[in-house]
Amino acid sequence: MRKKIIAGNWKMNNSPEDSKNLVRDTMRNISFGKEKNLNVIFCPPFTSLSLVSEIIGHHKENGVFTGGQNCHWEERGAFTGEISASMLKSSGADYVILGHSERRQYFNETDEIISKKIKVALKNHLIPVFCCGEKLLERKDHRHFEIVEKQISLGLFPNFSELPEGIFPVIAYEPVWAIGTGETATPNQAQEMHFFIRSLIAKKFGNGKAASVSILYGGSCNPKNSGELFIQPDIDGGLIGGASLKPEEFIGIINSI
Ligand code: 13P
Repeated sequence: MRKKIIAGNWKMNNSPEDSKNLVRDTMRNISFGKEKNLNVIFCPPFTSLSLVSEIIGHHKENGVFTGGQNCHWEERGAFTGEISASMLKSSGADYVILGHSERRQYFNETDEIISKKIKVALKNHLIPVFCCGEKLLERKDHRHFEIVEKQISLGLFPNFSELPEGIFPVIAYEPVWAIGTGETATPNQAQEMHFFIRSLIAKKFGNGKAASVSILYGGSCNPKNSGELFIQPDIDGGLIGGASLKPEEFIGIINSI
């Protein structure tokens, strides 16, 4: 059975001290063992990653992990300001968010660059959380399926044939118009896209693979709307931005799954 996952993408927020407080306040209120099939992932900025990984420590056995928010596509070298997949791994991360729309938009990441990043992440035994999603105009033009199919076919699928044993990418559908806007996809809109994504995987790699991929929804998720999203058959959890910075909201979302 595929994993349910709630991941918090803290983006460019929190000093190490703030991170410590946030993760402690959140961890204190997670009731472990309630949902055995659930993974909770904290994705702090690089500067807090080791610290947060240390705090969650032995809770990996309870399904609590850390992840990076990005990595470079090369293993090492003269890339001032960049962080490698192996650096993330050695800072305690088990996951890495790749292809986030903010990286695509502000840092010109193309599907080809994202594919290279996925490759190096997998090589270092990091589970990629691959983000895809259409912009508002693309949805208005009814091109959302076409856009997401292209992102997945070019960014993710080239790496599917050589997955390391026991590692399976996670997909996050994040419609750009719903990120940080307070506007959420309706449960029907999200389910329809998640089903489409799962069908793409089934067509190319078979029903077995399709059934085991966790597909998360992201975009203005909060404790009020998360329950009706997570109850959809193809929505396996959420990638949470703003609400993951508030322990009570993040916990509310975790409890709604
Ligand atoms: P918000 O939850 O703040 O809309 O952000 C979603 C997101 O981008 C998570 O990666």
